[in-house]
Formats: sequence, structure tokens, C-alpha cells
Amino acid sequence: MTVTSCNIQKPNLGEVIEKYKEFPGSLLDLLHEVQEIDGYLSRDVMQQIAEGLGISESKVYGVATFYSLFKTAPTGQFIIRICESAPCHIRGAQEVLEAIEETLGIKPGETTLDGKFTLEFTSCLGLCGVAPAIMINDQVYGNLTSDRVKEVLLNF
Ligand code: FES
Repeated sequence: MTVTSCNIQKPNLGEVIEKYKEFPGSLLDLLHEVQEIDGYLSRDVMQQIAEGLGISESKVYGVATFYSLFKTAPTGQFIIRICESAPCHIRGAQEVLEAIEETLGIKPGETTLDGKFTLEFTSCLGLCGVAPAIMINDQVYGNLTSDRVKEVLLNF
């Protein structure tokens, strides 16, 4: 019996641009697909998209920087999103933030030197009932205290 490996390849930039070339109105979809290749949209990649679609680089850059789900710099393996909306703020989000900053040595908008964590602010995560709350990638953590969030981070 022969065992073959399943090698799923990501599309390359040229292929994605080619796919959307005739649909310049689909810039958001294109940017989503391109971001899956490297995890972020570099300046060089945005230039190539603009050239490929025949639109201005400033338009591509404007869209990529307007939506928070697009990244224009490399991010860590784990993205920590800390809620900065009022209910979390009132229930201790600042202490949780300080504990994360102290544990990882980064501020919001930064990535740890080992590339493991990126810290970002977000608005309400819809978890106000368990405020203060954070998300780490797709996992949610609520009812946090500074000790509890340190414990969570040490388990990664
Ligand atoms: S205000 Fe923080 S989860 Fe809603």
C-alpha cells in the first residue's frame, strides 16, 4: 500500500490578482485572500495589487489600513485582543492590560520579539457579561484579573 501525502498549497499573489483582475470592485475579497498568504499585507504586496488591478496604490493602502482585520505588518502567532469598551474598562480591563504588558513586555500594537504574541485593542467582543474579556485568536477569556490573565498567558 502506498501512502501519499496531501500537500495543500496556498495560492500565490499573482494567481490571486489574476483571479480578481476583472473585478476591481472586489478589493476586500482580494485583500482577504492575499493576507492569507503571508498573514499581512506588505507595502510591496499592495503595490503589486495596485499595478495588477490598474488602480492607485493609495486606494489599496487606504482600504487595507481602514479595516482593522487587515494587517500591514507581520503579527504574532497568537493575537491577543483586549476589549477597551466601557463595561470592560469599568470592570478592570486596565489592570488586565497592565498584566499582559508586564508579562509579555509589549504594548498594544506591538509583537513579542519571538513572534509569538501580538497585542491589540478591540471594541466590545460581545462578552460584556464576563467583563473584562480578551480573545486570543479565536478563544475567549472572561472574568479576568491580572493574576488570571498571567496564568492564561503562561499556558501558551
Ligand atoms: S465591553 Fe468588553 S466585551 Fe463588551
